[in-house]
Amino acid sequence: MAEPEFTVDFPTETIQEGKVKALVPKLQAYKKQPSDYAPSKAPVFYNPVMELNRDVSVLAFQAYQRMANREISICDPLTASGIRGIRFAAEIHGVKKVVTSDINERSFKLAQHNVHLNGLQNRVTVKHKDANCLLSCHGAPRRRFDVVDIDPFGSPVSYLDSAVRALRNKGLLAATATDLAPLCGVHAKACIRKYGGKPLRTEYCQELAVRLLAGCIATVAAKQDIGVRVVFSHSTDHYIRVYAQIGYGAKKADASIKSLGYVLHCFNCLHRETTKALSQRFFEKCPECGSKMDWAGPLWLGKILDQQFCKLMAQESRRTAFRNSGKISKLLSLAEEEAEAPATYYVIDKISNKLSSPVPSVSAMLQGLRDKGFQVSPTHFNSRGVKTDAPALVLQNLLKKIVT
Ligand SMILES: C[S@@+](CC[C@H](N)C(=O)[O-])C[C@H]1O[C@@H](n2cnc3c(N)ncnc32)[C@H](O)[C@@H]1O
Ligand SMILES: [Zn+2]
Repeated sequence: MAEPEFTVDFPTETIQEGKVKALVPKLQAYKKQPSDYAPSKAPVFYNPVMELNRDVSVLAFQAYQRMANREISICDPLTASGIRGIRFAAEIHGVKKVVTSDINERSFKLAQHNVHLNGLQNRVTVKHKDANCLLSCHGAPRRRFDVVDIDPFGSPVSYLDSAVRALRNKGLLAATATDLAPLCGVHAKACIRKYGGKPLRTEYCQELAVRLLAGCIATVAAKQDIGVRVVFSHSTDHYIRVYAQIGYGAKKADASIKSLGYVLHCFNCLHRETTKALSQRFFEKCPECGSKMDWAGPLWLGKILDQQFCKLMAQESRRTAFRNSGKISKLLSLAEEEAEAPATYYVIDKISNKLSSPVPSVSAMLQGLRDKGFQVSPTHFNSRGVKTDAPALVLQNLLKKIVT
């Protein structure tokens, strides 16, 4: 198909990302002051910082395609320059078609141009449609996608309902959220409104953010008698990302609703625990220090990483050279290690701060806990974080012993 006539009325440059090239806004032209966030000032959105987000998506969808062992279809309904969907078609083996769309006319035209630039017009379609409208049109049997990738400005919640309906049974939903102020508890009311769960400003708020988004996806899916299984998630830079595989059936929906619950947290001694129901525990005192506890939720208490899926992604990453390969292999190896770890993590510096003591190394803390027989792992969420089933007071005592 010949390319429609294309002219561009704003400064652009050609970039290379992954295996594709793309014409994108010249971000330098939109940065008048050092504080300016150029991607959102340009007429079409392109953020080079999100390259790793797209790389990890390529790996996750490739792992999913290998599991499915057939050709897959992908929808990227908030495509901007088209770079995401174009990369999926060019870099993932076994992709039959990619449908991309953007409501912004300049994005639509630029994405169309970029599809032609990469010679992918046979497999990538670009639409100029509202995302919910597009997804709803694909919410019927034989029209559904294997994968839907929601990568919006801010929160993905307005697209979750139609995205789940546009997925076939066992399909994969990926969603990015950049609204970390609500999700991490700075604007708690907005989080309760949007995600249906209360956040908490703790040192592990990024994990709570992932669990709030996953809980919201599970709740939205359950309304349609669909269950979810979170296969991968990560918190990187200014965003979180959740990959959830859906499964049709009321029993699966009931099972995923059973994975919802609350995290209770003591701001005095850093004790934390999880509970599946609104129970008497909310009104009882912290079992370690007797202080009143606060809570977050309802949120997803099930797994937020599937070890097997992490392994598959790591396998794929060894076959692919990305600009971010170093960061990605670190992320994937940490993710695999922490997949079986309990919910929440301690940040060593926070405990030291509380005790007004020097800060030990994370490895010394991990080894000390391991020697005492506790489950331990580092976490990708925080390089100073420790995931463990040890009580807060055990960590405090161990830390004191290490630094004295
Ligand atoms: C964060 S950008 C997407 C970035 C892109 N996914 C990437 O990886 O480069 C969000 C995009 O959603 C588009 N958008 C916003 N609301 C929309 C809607 N209701 N339907 C379709 N597109 C929409 C915006 O025009 C913008 O291009
Ligand atoms: Zn306490």
